Amino acid sequence: MKRILISETLKSIGHEVKISGWISKRRDHGKIVFLDIRDMSGLLQVVVVPGSCAHKEVESLRPEWVVSITGKINRRPEKMVNTELLTGTVEMEAKEIEILNEAKTPPFEIDKDTKGVDEELRLKYRYLDLRSTRMNRNITLRHEIIRFVREFLWDKNFREIETPYLTKSTPEGAREFVVPSRLYPGEFYVLPQSPQQFKQLLMVGGIEKYFQIARCFRDEDQRGDRQPEFTQLDIEMSFVDQEDIMDLIEDMMIEMISKLLPHKKIKTTPFERVKYNDSLAKYKSDKPDLRADKSKRDELAFCWVIDKPVFVRSKSDGKLVSDHHPFTMPNTEDIDKLDTEPEKVRAYSYDLVLNGFEIAGGSIRIHKREIQDKIFDLLGVDHEEKNRRFGHMLEAFEFGAPPHGGIASGLDRVASILADEDVIREAMAFPKTGDAKDPLMGAPSPVSKKQLDDVHISLKSEAKNKAIERTDTETND
Ligand code: AMO
Repeated sequence: MKRILISETLKSIGHEVKISGWISKRRDHGKIVFLDIRDMSGLLQVVVVPGSCAHKEVESLRPEWVVSITGKINRRPEKMVNTELLTGTVEMEAKEIEILNEAKTPPFEIDKDTKGVDEELRLKYRYLDLRSTRMNRNITLRHEIIRFVREFLWDKNFREIETPYLTKSTPEGAREFVVPSRLYPGEFYVLPQSPQQFKQLLMVGGIEKYFQIARCFRDEDQRGDRQPEFTQLDIEMSFVDQEDIMDLIEDMMIEMISKLLPHKKIKTTPFERVKYNDSLAKYKSDKPDLRADKSKRDELAFCWVIDKPVFVRSKSDGKLVSDHHPFTMPNTEDIDKLDTEPEKVRAYSYDLVLNGFEIAGGSIRIHKREIQDKIFDLLGVDHEEKNRRFGHMLEAFEFGAPPHGGIASGLDRVASILADEDVIREAMAFPKTGDAKDPLMGAPSPVSKKQLDDVHISLKSEAKNKAIERTDTETND
């Protein structure tokens, strides 16, 4: 018999079916045994009555064993209905149980919420944590969000394009992860902080409407809403203005919420707009939480923070630095202040804030070489550095770059807020700990001396002993 999903048992009342999954719980009521079986789609109560073939097997069964069970789906008696469960109106009367695999006792309870379990332990055994109902629900919601945005943008004629992960530095303000090159001694790739430069180059390449579900890498200090690698919904468009991009994202968010989470209420549409300076003055924050009651998770207060400055002063040395990134277009009304009062120049940039978290940020870009040159000059990037780091961008602007702009949304943040979670880890399958470690794979970890030799790296004395003697598994390809 072909296995069906637990969610499909509702349509099989009165029929014999086969389900497969994990034993979530086992309850013995005298000789009758109740098993809660879990698969990707939900939980089903299975009743094993004395005298059935299944009853012989049931004695040995333990939580987290993997089984296939064949039996009849019955409607539950009225007083046994469990409204908390998708399949709470039915149960299976087991006929046959096949044991597919046994399991050791898990290091924490999976049939309960795992939030209280030590973080490091949860991440070391993430594959067990992912079996818990809440994690399964969060990961499924994340999948639904990604599926929704893909379909939304495909329908609007966007091209989904992948850009390289082994690349050169792109300035988003964080420290970068570097990858040594084997073929070029002393040279390094850099993992992208975002696909920023590539997406602009795609616009020069005539693509006009681009998006990507892109992994980004930033070696910065961790917080609940930050991870060293995270996922952006990255978008860029040609021949658009700020309003076009904000409208697109706003429509996407509104449609997504009404489709995936209809019980949530968006506080105001169109989304409120707050000028950056007003936000600082009124809310003492550039990420205001506009909910009247901040504990209400089902209320979604979106707001756009606009008119951010092009430059801010660095706290460490007082130099001008980009508020967003150096490709952001200054507001044409303020361009004459670039030399005299650079900090007063507003940008065509916009952040989308949801319940106090920045979930997206973007800008209209500079597409003319002379303005880009000027911005680099004001940032104090000297001629040599400008050409070395950004020569390719400046050159591209000389080959008919169209006016363009875009935005990127942090999908981990969106998914975690919509899943009512406080930290983004809860909406990621394999996140890092708060101190940027992966206890499951054991990363970061020392590599072998041979690997270091291959990439022409010798460690400083204090790190030297960490390189391990190891025979690497080699492949021929
Ligand atoms: P920005 O740096 O504002 O813009 O990033 C866009 C969005 O990505 C999310 N985000 C993060 N999420 C998790 N962990 C992090 N460490 C992290 N850093 C950022 C946030 C943020 O709003 N290239 C530009 C976008 C553009 O101009 O189009 C960029 O990356 O939700």
